Amino acid sequence: MVHTELMKDIYYVGYVDWEVRNFHGYSTHRGSSYNAYIVKGEKNVLIDTVKRPFFNYFLENIKNIINPEKIDYLIVNHVEMDHSGSFPLIIKYLPNAQIIASKKGVEILRDHFHKEVDDEVFNNIRAVKEGDTLDVGNVKKFTFVPIPMIHWPDSMVSFMTDENGKNILFSNDAFGQHLATSSRWDDENDFDVIMEEAVKYYANILLHLSKLISSVLPKVGSLPIDIICPSHGVCWRKHVGDIVERYKKWSAGEIDNKTAIIVYDTMWGSTEIIAKALYKELQYRGIKVKRYKLTNADYSDVITEVMLSKAIIVGSPTLNNGMYPTVAEYVCYQKGLKPMNKIGLAFGSYGWGGGAVKEIIKELEASKIDILEESIEIKFVPKPEDLNFKKIIDKLIEKMV
Ligand code: FEO
Repeated sequence: MVHTELMKDIYYVGYVDWEVRNFHGYSTHRGSSYNAYIVKGEKNVLIDTVKRPFFNYFLENIKNIINPEKIDYLIVNHVEMDHSGSFPLIIKYLPNAQIIASKKGVEILRDHFHKEVDDEVFNNIRAVKEGDTLDVGNVKKFTFVPIPMIHWPDSMVSFMTDENGKNILFSNDAFGQHLATSSRWDDENDFDVIMEEAVKYYANILLHLSKLISSVLPKVGSLPIDIICPSHGVCWRKHVGDIVERYKKWSAGEIDNKTAIIVYDTMWGSTEIIAKALYKELQYRGIKVKRYKLTNADYSDVITEVMLSKAIIVGSPTLNNGMYPTVAEYVCYQKGLKPMNKIGLAFGSYGWGGGAVKEIIKELEASKIDILEESIEIKFVPKPEDLNFKKIIDKLIEKMV
């Protein structure tokens, strides 16, 4: 692993993780990266650290650029362990560095590392608030903007203007993507791939915070940003406007109204017969529809498609008077992420008592999804006449557009 000079005096010292396929439950089909940066100047700054197992690579990257003793500041934008896991280890190599974090960041650093780090260290951290600045010489200046609850209470972004007047936003999790790549810039990678990972990242990490993001984006959008360096995936220089615009759309819940997703599982095939019949009817009506069977799909991919769809149609067979376990798990995941601006429909099959459809409705209602009054519940194996869904799809489409 070697360091990368991103531009004059700004270096990448993070770790690209080609192996990770599960990031706290989020499927990372293309790996990830834990980005950290060094800004050199009259004063030298290290921004963030990496997940602890990769500390040695991180340290080696730093040493390739600078003697760690010459680092004057360590900025901790966010305490989650993928960015601060190496904090207790790296500070031993930075005897001359002032640590900077948001006020909540100081608290949460202490909450995490009280066993390994002396209290003295926490007492000496500079806690910054919105608009506080740090002059690092060579006309470089940092401005700090805490963004509480996007997505942790401590989260902060650091905005730097360099001597050429270029404005760089070190955005931490915001605008990130779980993507392993040896090319650090957006324009050196396939645009569709980085956007695919950016939307998946938004859906799985940030979706439930959309209202808050909507309120903060104008503040971020008003900054004259030339470059965004997030803490996962590639840095943005060519497509800054594109990613900020996408965040505006995603956080406002803007979607194509003629889109639907069918998410279901099946035990002996009856619920799947219903899912396929619903798919056929929607497709026939010109709705762009996707169908995911939960046995073969993972929640992080499905929730991404849910975020981009207007109608969410959820189906389950009844098992032990309730939902099939994969469906129960999925709706629980979805409830936490609070997809906005959706129309819901529940369907399923049963043998005698039923119960799954009722539970799906309860869960969708708890997610504040506007549910169609009608639902579909079919006993044992559907007969051809059970599969005429014209009327119910009429009602669904009426609410979608
Ligand atoms: Fe909130 Fe990438 O950690």
